[in-house]
Amino acid sequence: MASAAGGRRKTACVTGGSGYIASALIKTLLDHGYAVKTTVRNPDDLEKTSHLKDLQAFGPLEIFRGELDVEGSFDDSVSGCDYVFLVAAPMDMGSLDPERDLVQAGVQGTLNVMRSCVKAGTVKRVILTSSDSAVCQRPLEGDGHVLDEGSWSDVPYLRAEQPEAWGYAVSKVLMEEAAGKFADENGLSLVSVLPTFTLGAAPVSQARTSVPVVLSLLSGDEEQLNLLEAMHLITESVSINHIDDLCRAQVFLAENEASSGRYICNSHDTTVKQIARLFADKYPQYNVKSQRYIYESYLSSSSRPGHRHGLFVLFVTISMPSFCSFDGSPEKPRVCLSSQKLIGEGFVYNYDDLGAILDDLVEYGRTTGILPY
Ligand SMILES: NC(=O)c1ccc[n+]([C@@H]2O[C@H](COP(=O)([O-])OP(=O)(O)OC[C@H]3O[C@@H](n4cnc5c(N)ncnc54)[C@H](OP(=O)(O)O)[C@@H]3O)[C@@H](O)[C@H]2O)c1
Repeated sequence: MASAAGGRRKTACVTGGSGYIASALIKTLLDHGYAVKTTVRNPDDLEKTSHLKDLQAFGPLEIFRGELDVEGSFDDSVSGCDYVFLVAAPMDMGSLDPERDLVQAGVQGTLNVMRSCVKAGTVKRVILTSSDSAVCQRPLEGDGHVLDEGSWSDVPYLRAEQPEAWGYAVSKVLMEEAAGKFADENGLSLVSVLPTFTLGAAPVSQARTSVPVVLSLLSGDEEQLNLLEAMHLITESVSINHIDDLCRAQVFLAENEASSGRYICNSHDTTVKQIARLFADKYPQYNVKSQRYIYESYLSSSSRPGHRHGLFVLFVTISMPSFCSFDGSPEKPRVCLSSQKLIGEGFVYNYDDLGAILDDLVEYGRTTGILPY
């Protein structure tokens, strides 16, 4: 627990309290006895803050205004904090100008919060939420890759080839690099957490990122399905962790003094095919949807985002009532992401069953209206 009997409660700031992961992290911190300060862009926006008012029942939680592109905007929320969790980040995957909206906004926003941390003078550690997108988006030949924290996504390759969501991956690499340099220059302790697809229930009533993307296999939401398949194309793998494990890992990495550098948070390496099969077995009533490659021909001039090795790939969404068969999609993940560094320091994942994570995801999808009951 963060507070000894009669002692001062430890205080943590979590940026982006309106978001999926931040809302769950706030709950975890409150459960661990922390006093929490969180930021949202507009504290008067009830649609995005009502879950935070509900969370105030679990412990001391203050809500502040914090905008990544407004210098000094985080001074008040970070003031007096022991730990600062940088979770807010630009997530506009559909941006027409990813360099501006994801890369520059992400890097500048990260440094903005870190400048507030230096001003505060109380911050023992900054915990930056990066992503596995900062690890695995680089050219990889063949199968059986196991990547760890020593691997970085290839920024020149991403900028040249522009696969789906390339700006997001570039932003995460450059955010980590800029944060590391700033921390070194200013004597701040920094740990970067690199979650894979994070799934499971959170306090927010509308999840906008990984949850609807993976649930698109059941909901049939075409935009989200396209995103899932395009992301899958990059490594032909999907790596997953449960949101409760991620939040516990974030707190572990804040409190564990010996921790430093990058930490992949991942408990399951799988594929869209395997997830769809699990869904089909468990939830036949939803008619698992998937995308299937129906036509492939060599068109080396193709510039379609998501193309690889000069292959032009045409997608069609089909519905498969009781079985799944995705021609062209591999059975096993080509790329696995090792979480051995985190485990080696003593962290224990609670969710070792992928089916249990998907059950929790489906239940959350039902309560938030993404899926019908
Ligand atoms: N979900 C995953 O599977 C996953 C996996 C790996 C890494 N991550 C990382 O985890 C973090 C949270 O992701 P999430 O899934 O929880 O996404 P999310 O629900 O979209 O949360 C993003 C948060 O960032 C805030 N934000 C965006 N731009 C901002 C700005 N200019 N100023 C202030 N706040 C801003 C959003 O505020 P508004 O609500 O006002 O837009 C929201 O609170 C991100 O850094 C993401 O890259 C997520």
